[in-house]
Amino acid sequence: MTTVQVKASRSYEVKISRGLLATLGHEAAGLVKGRSAAIVSDTNVAPLYLDRVKDSLEEAGFRICAFVFPAGESFKNGETYLNLLEFLAENQITRSDTLVALGGGVVGDLTGFAAATFLRGVDFIQLPTTLLAAVDASVGGKTAIDLKNGKNLAGAFYQPRLVLCDLDTLDTLPDDIFADGCAEVIKYGMIGDEGLLDLLGQKHFRDDPEEVVARCIASKRDLVEADEFDTGARQLLNLGHTIGHGIEACSHYGISHGKAVAMGMTIITRSAIAQGMCPSESLSNLQKLLKQYGLPEATEYSAADLYEKTLSDKKRTGGTISLVVPTAWGKSVLHKVPVGDLLNWIEKGL
Ligand code: GLY
Repeated sequence: MTTVQVKASRSYEVKISRGLLATLGHEAAGLVKGRSAAIVSDTNVAPLYLDRVKDSLEEAGFRICAFVFPAGESFKNGETYLNLLEFLAENQITRSDTLVALGGGVVGDLTGFAAATFLRGVDFIQLPTTLLAAVDASVGGKTAIDLKNGKNLAGAFYQPRLVLCDLDTLDTLPDDIFADGCAEVIKYGMIGDEGLLDLLGQKHFRDDPEEVVARCIASKRDLVEADEFDTGARQLLNLGHTIGHGIEACSHYGISHGKAVAMGMTIITRSAIAQGMCPSESLSNLQKLLKQYGLPEATEYSAADLYEKTLSDKKRTGGTISLVVPTAWGKSVLHKVPVGDLLNWIEKGL
């Protein structure tokens, strides 16, 4: 087992290994005061793992209730959030009790936001069951729901008490969903870990993911500890995301987050090369890795359409936007550009 310690406004451990769901009760009993826990999951994940999580908590003396909502980003909304808060109140969850997020990023974001706001804050534990949630969403305390006007527009920074990445849960992921997480894994290499890129190039890590997952989480820990509230270094995690969000929006969310990030990383790398900021082999190296991990690189959308959708992203500050720009294979920097220059950046990257 690998353990990554995160020291943010709250300190906690991220444990990475197989078989961890069965240890949840024991782990939680040593960590939280109350003996009631509300498990939050969705209709994809609950049939696979809810009983395992319930049994583990009950064996450790917890009273359990479970809130299961329909799977999908469209349910990470205000209605599901309010239903969850009412459910917690009906089930007499108190301030010493705990919420348990069992699922991917949607479940983790929603549960975390409910934990941040119910009774002005209760503990929560993350049990990520997708690669994307394991290496990114479950660590670092970004919690949110979507509004009609955009994704993650209502949320809070609120750190979990514990994250258990049970690698067994990654075995049941469809290849396509696993590939989405691979885009985030490649991103960690691109922003500052050339050794990870070498490792990814040697062989696919799906059968033995612990080292790669742990390495990504350690990188995220470093950025979260340096900049918990996302005003500086943490923004490096947005490599490929700014234009990627534009691609997701252009496709009406038909293109998944991971695929859009893969395309976004390709566009920004090509643009950086065209502007003399990055050596050209970074693009061919990236294209090779994306192909190896079943990810696309090209988008059919025009620069004008991408520009329009990218501008509505919340990462814009006044008249400037912070781009994450690769400057070498395994290195990226934050680069503020006037909003008006963004179109040029996208045109040069297509
Ligand atoms: N998902 C990016 C971050 O946590 O900052």
